[in-house]
Amino acid sequence: MKCYCYTMGDPSKLIVIALMALIAITTSVQPVHSANILGVFLSPSPSHLIVHMSIMKTLAEQGHNVTVVSGQKPKVTHEKIHNIIIEPSEEHQREMEQELSAMGVKKQNVVVMLMKFLMANNVLTQMQYDALRNERFQSIYESKFDLVILGYFVNNFKFIVPAKLNCPVIISWTGPPMEMVNGFVGVPPEMTYVPSTFTPHKNGELLSFGLRMFNTFTSYAMRLLVVIMDISLNSYYKTLAEGDPTIRSYSQMLANVSLVFCNSHFSEGPIRPLVPGLVEIGGIQIKEKPDPLPKKLEKFLNASNKNGAILFSLGSNMKGSNIQPATVQILFKVLSSLEQNVIWKWEDLAKTPGNASNIFYQKWLPQDDILAHPNLKLFITHAGKGGMVEATYHGVPMVAMPIFAEQPVNAAKIVSSGYGTQVDILNLKEDDFKAAILEVLNNPVYRDNVQKFAKLYRDRPLSARESVVYWVEYVLRHHGAAHMQSPLVRMNFIQSSGLDVLFAYFAILYALWRLAKLALAHLCELIRKVRGIFKSKREKSKKE
Ligand SMILES: *[C@@H]1O[C@H](CO)[C@@H](O)[C@H](O)[C@H]1NC(C)=O
Ligand SMILES: *[C@@H]1O[C@H](CO)[C@@H](O)[C@H](O)[C@H]1NC(C)=O
Repeated sequence: MKCYCYTMGDPSKLIVIALMALIAITTSVQPVHSANILGVFLSPSPSHLIVHMSIMKTLAEQGHNVTVVSGQKPKVTHEKIHNIIIEPSEEHQREMEQELSAMGVKKQNVVVMLMKFLMANNVLTQMQYDALRNERFQSIYESKFDLVILGYFVNNFKFIVPAKLNCPVIISWTGPPMEMVNGFVGVPPEMTYVPSTFTPHKNGELLSFGLRMFNTFTSYAMRLLVVIMDISLNSYYKTLAEGDPTIRSYSQMLANVSLVFCNSHFSEGPIRPLVPGLVEIGGIQIKEKPDPLPKKLEKFLNASNKNGAILFSLGSNMKGSNIQPATVQILFKVLSSLEQNVIWKWEDLAKTPGNASNIFYQKWLPQDDILAHPNLKLFITHAGKGGMVEATYHGVPMVAMPIFAEQPVNAAKIVSSGYGTQVDILNLKEDDFKAAILEVLNNPVYRDNVQKFAKLYRDRPLSARESVVYWVEYVLRHHGAAHMQSPLVRMNFIQSSGLDVLFAYFAILYALWRLAKLALAHLCELIRKVRGIFKSKREKSKKE
């Protein structure tokens, strides 16, 4: 405003005015100043870390001062990110490995798996809790941070970090909106048409009566699970907060989450109502432009221009050694008999399943960049969320081999959406496996379906990266997003499901009914009395 005081006419003053105006413009348009942002990602799953780190990398590229604490060395990172790696104890790593190999051998019972989470007493939770108590973690509290981003994975005691640093918090969840994270920002549970995590469904189809019964049950069960889990997680939180009575309580922290980032996009379905605090950044881990491939891989893929190439990976959790040897032999027999070239993710290069001229073993693969290659014709996958999104983004059809967790649901989705077929890896038959591969390679319908979806998935007002930058800086600009919070967050179960109101109405109706009954009884009594009086009067007059 000051520049208006200058008298016009003097050219040197004009220049000053122009310069000041320029400064004013550039400062007003400038995004949030470089903020200190902390990411805490302690889930042992490498694929989770890839998603979280893709967010942090985007923020570092934007010029923010990013610090990340993780349980393993991140594969996605940025030169400017300060990485602090707190690895789980050897004992925990061994325990984790044992649980995973047990899963590769036999089907897991969903109920048993849930029970383990219920007590927050499994190795997954323990190793994350240990990291927070690690001496090296304490140095975090000496710095000042403007924002904390927490990776969600049954680890709500991590809220102690933003509580101690006294700054806003954003949750990053690697899947679509679900019961475990919806509560943070108050996404309404819509049990009659939004399928829960465990409800099989087909996009665009209404849930049948039976499925709605099942869906209501599983939705309530999941929400109950969250409540029960919170009891254990709260006690962990209290231990971590020990010695500091001024620190905000667990329930205060739960009700003060600024945003939840979900790695999903509505085009994947199912369609559901979302609140502004839930921001979908599906595909954040996918590079908009693929990186150049390692020389050997590039040569192998380029040489596959005649019959095409296949990528085979069971993800980052499942090692080749976790699969039964007989199954490995079937996999090898079928894959080595194909005309296509095959890139097989296999850890132990000294001990591969067998040599074949069309198979290229590799310990770690730049999966996203491989899927982007035009010669890639098929992805054989464990149907983890990450790989599935990458394949659909690049329009590559799939043969799914789900093992555990959300994979069977993803695989069912691949099949029902017409993006590919599914085989049972725990009971693999040579003929079935080969038939599934040939079907997807030779029938163009799968490729057409997945490429049609890829177009929808990429069509957005803001790309995943732009959404991350915009919304993180939004929270920074406004020091949290309390104004955006759904009232649902502060309501208990009875209030939010309207049970209290329903009860009150029933009580009123009941009272009215009783009153009406009482009034009627009195009325009848009155009529009888009046009649009696008239009758006796009539009789009297008759007598007279
Ligand atoms: C960046 O963050 C680190 C914490 O990891 C902190 O020590 C450092 O001072 C920050 N740099 C600036 C310029 O604020
Ligand atoms: C919610 O978080 C913001 C940002 O950290 C903080 O200023 C505010 O006091 C918190 N509110 C409650 C009720 O804890």
